[in-house]
Amino acid sequence: SAIYLKDYQVPNFLIDKTELTFELDEASVVVTARLHMRRNSASNDQSASLALDGGEDMKLIGVAIDNNPLASKDYQLTSQQLEIFTVPDEFVLTCETLIEPQNNTRLEGLYRSSSMFCTQCEAEGFRHITYYLDRPDVMSVFTTTIIADENKYPVMLSNGNEVERGMTEDGRTVVTWHDPFKKPAYLFALVAGDLAVQDDVFKTKSGRAVTLRIFTEQHNIDKVDYAMGALKRSMKWDEEAYGREYDLDIFMVVAVDDFNMGAMENKGLNIFNSSCLLASPETTTDDAYLRIEAIVAHEYFHNWSGNRVTCRDWFQLSLKEGFTVFRDQTFSSDMHSETVKRVEDVSFLRTAQFAEDAGPMAHPVRPASFIEISNFYTLTVYEKGAEIVRMIHTLLGEKCFRKGADLYFERHDGQAVTCDDFVTAMEDASGIDLSQFKRWYSQAGTPELVLSSEYSESSKTFTLTVQQTTQPTPGQDTKLPLHIPIKLGLISHDGKELKSTYDDCREREHVLHLKGEKTVFEFFNVESKPVPSILRGFSAPVKVEYGYSTEELLLLMSCDSDGFNRWDAGQQLAVRELKALIDQVKNSETLIESSDLVSGYKALLLNEELDPAMVALILTLPSQAYLSELEAEIDPQAIYTARDHLTKVIAKALQNEFSSVYSQNTEETVYEPNAAQIAKRALKNTALRYWVESGDVKALEALTEQFANSDNMTDQYAALAIAVEANIDKADSMLATFYDQWLHESLVVNKWLTLSACKEDRKGLEKVNELMSHPAFDIKNPNKVRAVLGGMSRSVQVFHNEDGSGYRYLADQIIYLNKRNPQLASRMCTPLTRWKKYKSILSGLMKSELIRIQKEELSKDVYEVITKSLEG
Ligand code: ARG
Ligand code: ZN
Repeated sequence: SAIYLKDYQVPNFLIDKTELTFELDEASVVVTARLHMRRNSASNDQSASLALDGGEDMKLIGVAIDNNPLASKDYQLTSQQLEIFTVPDEFVLTCETLIEPQNNTRLEGLYRSSSMFCTQCEAEGFRHITYYLDRPDVMSVFTTTIIADENKYPVMLSNGNEVERGMTEDGRTVVTWHDPFKKPAYLFALVAGDLAVQDDVFKTKSGRAVTLRIFTEQHNIDKVDYAMGALKRSMKWDEEAYGREYDLDIFMVVAVDDFNMGAMENKGLNIFNSSCLLASPETTTDDAYLRIEAIVAHEYFHNWSGNRVTCRDWFQLSLKEGFTVFRDQTFSSDMHSETVKRVEDVSFLRTAQFAEDAGPMAHPVRPASFIEISNFYTLTVYEKGAEIVRMIHTLLGEKCFRKGADLYFERHDGQAVTCDDFVTAMEDASGIDLSQFKRWYSQAGTPELVLSSEYSESSKTFTLTVQQTTQPTPGQDTKLPLHIPIKLGLISHDGKELKSTYDDCREREHVLHLKGEKTVFEFFNVESKPVPSILRGFSAPVKVEYGYSTEELLLLMSCDSDGFNRWDAGQQLAVRELKALIDQVKNSETLIESSDLVSGYKALLLNEELDPAMVALILTLPSQAYLSELEAEIDPQAIYTARDHLTKVIAKALQNEFSSVYSQNTEETVYEPNAAQIAKRALKNTALRYWVESGDVKALEALTEQFANSDNMTDQYAALAIAVEANIDKADSMLATFYDQWLHESLVVNKWLTLSACKEDRKGLEKVNELMSHPAFDIKNPNKVRAVLGGMSRSVQVFHNEDGSGYRYLADQIIYLNKRNPQLASRMCTPLTRWKKYKSILSGLMKSELIRIQKEELSKDVYEVITKSLEG
């Protein structure tokens, strides 16, 4: 049964204060809630009964109103609710529940990870702890008391400040926490365990000293320095970029191993998947360092964009997530390289979010309905949501955007609001009309722009015609034109930026406002026939079609002042060649042995002035996943063969260049995850990848030596990944060595699981099955499940085997996980849900697995994804 945005009603009751007591024990936990409640005068039902949310996994011990216990005739208990028939206008509700965290395999609510207790309440986990108004527009002041055996649980944490510590008569420890800021229940957190801690201090700009504390299991405390630094950088950045200061005296972060998502922004007590927090040079790759920094920042930034100002309902999820992703992207961009960051983010968006928009689960950034909200923590809500905020930033300019953000935080502090409220603040601060722009929130699908141009030599006028269309998506047949900012520059045929007059402005770059279905833009006083540089910095999340010649793309690739478009021109060239090769493979033709990319790549490799990170990105061919997204009918093997072929053509043509770039970037340094070093390693390892593919035996020697002797995981892992991708003979023995070396480092073992599972291998499925019964595997741990099943889903030969065995294997695992951990099971469905886009033999096999899953007794999570995929 679906829930609709249009049915939103204000809550009938409010909870001013929430007092919780947890008696923690291995066999069961007793939770006592005292809720200070009153009727909501804004509700239009002033005689409503009290309906509290609560899951079946709780046992209700007792319930009382103003200390008078209720009899069973006074209430009704269903699988999802506790309904109390009559209540006064103001009262204290006391409710005692018993839960069993040790049996909580769903990892929502209160559960156990290793030897600790921890929580995950977003979106609707709190209702598995106690009966409550578990919705984000009910905000309350929380006081939490934890009672436990201090020998087992010396650390007992909840939100806010520790206000009291004592003992029970039987010798258990009692700790009370108080959070002065009212918040919805999804921001509640509790942690208890035998944890190690690292302390630090941050001095805020107004001079307050905030205690920073990161907790981990004892053996991991040596891996938190980087996260601590990232946290301090984030706190400083939010003060400077948004004027946002931290508001409590203590900020705590805890790493847990078993976690469904990346991390969670609970007030004053962030909880992280340990894979998104722990780092050391020996065990962590550069990519992971950057990810950790971004996620630490993301969760910290939620303190304002999410916690102080929260969402009215879950349809508004992007209000906090889209804005916070935009904030963390800008932060990372400020810490490192703006262009590199933008290329990485756009690559990800175009590969994964565009695919979501083109699939059966396509939904607007603000969905109109859902069955299970956990299914809507999506790339659309997060990444496309961030693009919407970025477009507002582009339309308003930095100054007005900041004014808008200030107004938003000031106007809505302590409130639960909507995406419309956010846009209104931006409009009020800037005076810019965003009424048409708002369609971005409600309309699903990726807009496609088709552009054509004309140049008049005599009048020096350049004319650009732009048409926009958006394909229908499930449940949305007709699409309206969107307000799309197009950042544009003009480049002369000898590579100079040309000024032009547009809208009375004479500039090198303009922001065009596309509003109609078809619009003609005219640029005057253009000296010579230009090549347009369209959608600079990827100024809108759209697809662009313009008939560039190969020469024009090569020109943009070498001369565009916009780094993003330089990269994109290279990608467009590569896509063209790869598409031609894919067709040749499909038609069993001989594959062409030359590439226009070679000359461009050669120039890049010889140019020592360029940022090595950008060179590495430009040299990286579009991924299997991105090419799949572009194909009308996906033939995974043909894409794989085409990519492999082009890689080898380039590798052979530039063997000497790759070999010398490799050597030039291998000097000894003490490892640091800073931009300059990361860039060099990226280029070095990209060069190694090609060099190995050239077939040069020296390259294999270099790879083996790098694998054996690197002092950091980035280089060691790169060597291993290249061995696996290039499928060299030694790959299996290297994998075995790697496991033996790292078997005590769980996070490194996960990398090993992924690589082992995605290896293109005729015996693949057998090996995947071995991995799932390997001592290093643990079905309770979502990271390990994602490593193996996610890895396998990426392989062409194992997953897309035409005997259907890969799909069947994944479906079996989904059926098993559906009962244990529905959120995880639902995520694992994604590769199968894209069935309609595959060539018919594969498509039919995927569909029959979806139908087989559908016959099971399904969780809401899996049910929604499977039914929508079969309908959509
Ligand atoms: N709010 C968290 C974040 O993005 C993610 C929580 C996801 N929870 C879930 N049930 N899907 O920072
Ligand atoms: Zn978030």
